[in-house]
Amino acid sequence: MEQVEGERNVMEIREICKRLLCDITTTYIFGVNCDAINNPDSEMYSMAEKSMTFKAARGLVAEFFPKLLKWKGTKMYSEDVRQFFASITRQSIKMHLENNLNSSTVINMLLERYKIEKSRIDDLDGIVLEDIMAHALILVFSGYETVNNTLAALIYELTMHADVQKQLYEEIVKTVNDHDVSYDDIISIGYLDHVVNETIRLHSTNAIIDRRTMKNYVIKAENPDE
Ligand code: HEM
Repeated sequence: MEQVEGERNVMEIREICKRLLCDITTTYIFGVNCDAINNPDSEMYSMAEKSMTFKAARGLVAEFFPKLLKWKGTKMYSEDVRQFFASITRQSIKMHLENNLNSSTVINMLLERYKIEKSRIDDLDGIVLEDIMAHALILVFSGYETVNNTLAALIYELTMHADVQKQLYEEIVKTVNDHDVSYDDIISIGYLDHVVNETIRLHSTNAIIDRRTMKNYVIKAENPDE
């Protein structure tokens, strides 16, 4: 925020949201804060960005004809992205096992799930490492772009609707008051929930949903004459 550019006080909110989400995502997945928000040359940030920029055609084939990609041996991510995240996953596993880190990172949960202990540090067979990396990458993929897009859209909508911004601000101040914010505090701010839901309704990050409903569902009208 201190680095507002030029006399017009222009700020590239989209990029700030992306960098913030890169820091948050890699912290809760790998336990590594890459500080992309302060480091313009963060390699983690450029790789996270690169993992999102696969060709649309490849994405569509992967979505609808996954077996075709498998048959052709085509990978979703480019080799440098795969190598980078494989290396980060390996380093993070090592860091957790060597320091007996009992943190709430995704890597720690996966180590517990696969029952991997310190004695196996130099002998993680390919399958387990690939599995852990796949879990980690899918969370980078699902959590990074969706949330940074939504956050940028939410900030945009708040700037366009000053009344909503004011009410949201007041609700947050009332809840947070002077203490450290907890997860339960955030969940309890009902108006925040409405603002996020409305943002997602207006600016959906998922263009396609390919799941089928198992049974019919009727959305009930709020007013009887609707
Ligand atoms: C604004 C934020 C988000 C939106 C709008 C969103 C939206 C969605 C949607 C629509 C799907 C279903 C996709 C489909 O069926 O084709 C989905 C699936 C999924 N999302 Fe999100 N998501 C968000 C944030 C996150 C975050 C933060 C994570 C994890 C860190 C996450 C992880 C996942 C995973 C793992 C799946 C697949 C679930 C499964 O296969 O059963 N998402 N998301």
